Amino acid sequence: MRVSTLISGLSSISGLALAQTTIEPEDFSVVDALADLGVDVTEIPALETFSGIETRSTDKACAAACESLSFLFGSKISNPSSTGYSNFTDSFWSVQQEEVQPRCVFRPSKNTDVSTAVLLSRFTGCHFAARSGGHAAFSGASSAPGGISIWFKDMDAVTLKEDKSVASIGPGNNWLTAYSALEPYGLAVIGGRAASIGVGGFLLGGGISYHSNLYGWACDNVESFEVVTASGLIVTASEKSFPDLYWALRGGGNNFGLVTKYNLYTIPAPTLYGGARIFMETEFGDVVNAWVNVANNASVDPHAQQYVAFLSNSGMNLATAELTYTKNVSNAEIFNQYRSIPAISDTASPKTLVEYVEYLETENPSGLREIYWPISAALDEDYALWVVETFMSMLPEMAGVSGAQPVIIFQAITEPMLQNMKNFGGNALGLEDKTVPVHIVHVSCWWDNASDDETVYAFVHKFIDKVTEQAKTLGLFDEYVYMNYASMFQDPIAGYGDANKARLQSVAKKYDPREVFQTLQPGYFKLNGAPVTRTW
Ligand SMILES: Cc1cc2nc3c(=O)[nH]c(=O)nc-3n(C[C@H](O)[C@H](O)[C@H](O)COP(=O)(O)OP(=O)(O)OC[C@H]3O[C@@H](n4cnc5c(N)ncnc54)[C@H](O)[C@@H]3O)c2cc1C
Ligand SMILES: *[C@@H]1O[C@H](CO)[C@@H](O)[C@H](O)[C@H]1NC(C)=O
Ligand SMILES: *[C@@H]1O[C@H](CO)[C@@H](O)[C@H](O)[C@H]1NC(C)=O
Ligand SMILES: *[C@@H]1O[C@H](CO)[C@@H](O)[C@H](O)[C@H]1NC(C)=O
Ligand SMILES: *[C@@H]1O[C@H](CO)[C@@H](O)[C@H](O)[C@H]1NC(C)=O
Repeated sequence: MRVSTLISGLSSISGLALAQTTIEPEDFSVVDALADLGVDVTEIPALETFSGIETRSTDKACAAACESLSFLFGSKISNPSSTGYSNFTDSFWSVQQEEVQPRCVFRPSKNTDVSTAVLLSRFTGCHFAARSGGHAAFSGASSAPGGISIWFKDMDAVTLKEDKSVASIGPGNNWLTAYSALEPYGLAVIGGRAASIGVGGFLLGGGISYHSNLYGWACDNVESFEVVTASGLIVTASEKSFPDLYWALRGGGNNFGLVTKYNLYTIPAPTLYGGARIFMETEFGDVVNAWVNVANNASVDPHAQQYVAFLSNSGMNLATAELTYTKNVSNAEIFNQYRSIPAISDTASPKTLVEYVEYLETENPSGLREIYWPISAALDEDYALWVVETFMSMLPEMAGVSGAQPVIIFQAITEPMLQNMKNFGGNALGLEDKTVPVHIVHVSCWWDNASDDETVYAFVHKFIDKVTEQAKTLGLFDEYVYMNYASMFQDPIAGYGDANKARLQSVAKKYDPREVFQTLQPGYFKLNGAPVTRTW
């Protein structure tokens, strides 16, 4: 049970007064806004040649921006060839992100530091990117080539509201640090399933948690967001205050502002029971049947969470089912069918949430080239089995790619998840009216060499094309694309439906009329089109 949902919004800086005025008036002055933050641009040597006209992302603009940040913030700025810089570039999940060379890395320690950085980006015209956990896979998603990379690492506070119903989590946290801080209080939040995933990106794209059949996705359990807007204002968006912004941030990604605090409803810290049960190819039919049944049974017993991965390892085709129960129960009836299928191994055991995310971390190594690429379809057993067989039949095409590990992962957006997406005014994902569970078919692959990038992308594209066509033929295809797994060739916002896309665009226009977060922050998924368009 949720401790309490009856709380008022956390303090919002001048919330009421702001609601009366526009967030960014037509005659908005970046210079005046900087002055309000105590920054006099005429005193910054690097800005002497800048008139304040907004230009775009040249070397000159970014040199001026980074030197200005250095002047104002000293050691919070790291330049190339420093350990602060390499600590940043060396610690992404994917190599594609590690290869990006920003002009400088800025580590803000408080929300007004973030406001200053956004305004200096506007003043100079130098582009930026922001990073929480750095788990987005593709180039430029959370690091700005030649620009300012804002790294939230030092904004890692975790605090509790006095009645403990809400935890405030800084974007410098990943799920391990967030859960670890709450565990001594006997509390947890609805968050990620592996240790190093950042709270920042995860919550803005959705967030599938062990507890999602009980409470919904992570974004459906946000009480409020503290957000730095394009004009440098700090607002708190909740169901009551700036509800349109609150709605947009639950699925709309990085297009509306930089979130400096995620205020999440708490739940009691669980002891979970779970692990991976691994099956041979002869059992694939039974495994798919079990996966479909457990997905369809989610309302009967919402304590269960599952995903199944299909892959080939050392020439052996395997299915690995991650079966998690949110209580310390080893023999939950809902998993009976899986337990009756002969397995080659099973790591199920009781685990605290902290132990669980640490264990799952080991299954997802960092420092490799990576791609994630999902599609959605209505849950259907025959289709699911066809997808597995098609994938297995195509795998030999990847034999020549050094270090390649292609995997398909099945997850269901279950009936209780869909129900919970209606909470607090609904989220932006466009799923709440679905009447049958949604099957996310998610391809993931890692490999060694950049010289194989095109081979891998073409392989995954070919597979995705095939399973999309088949889903369309069977009338099962769903336009929804889960942003947190989406590839750079996809457009998740379009998949939310025309009405939600239009609503997201109008919220962006209200809070960011000059489209700072869509143009000066060009990385990741924008409101109008895929990051990379190409013909295959
Ligand atoms: C090993 C692994 C396990 C995963 N497990 C799960 C899972 O269990 N469930 C699930 O749903 N997904 C899962 N994912 C997907 C995960 O949700 C996404 O990769 C997510 O984007 C990661 O967030 P991040 O903060 O680490 O990423 P980042 O790369 O830091 O950020 C992603 C995007 O969000 C933006 N952003 C980050 N912080 C902020 C902020 N404070 N304000 C504004 N914008 C911000 C960034 O600018 C960037 O564009 C997993 C991914 C991996 C690689
Ligand atoms: C870089 O990381 C190392 C190891 O964690 C740490 O000791 C060092 O202080 C970091 N450097 C900076 C400038 O943050
Ligand atoms: C989990 O349940 C088992 C069996 O009832 C028990 O032995 C064990 O102590 C429990 N573990 C925790 C952490 O509660
Ligand atoms: C789950 O689904 C199967 C098949 O539809 C059914 O037989 C079973 O009773 C359901 N309930 C539970 C709790 O597993
Ligand atoms: C690919 O990577 C492997 C392992 O890192 C390396 O041995 C090999 O030389 C690389 N091949 C190419 C074509 O770069």
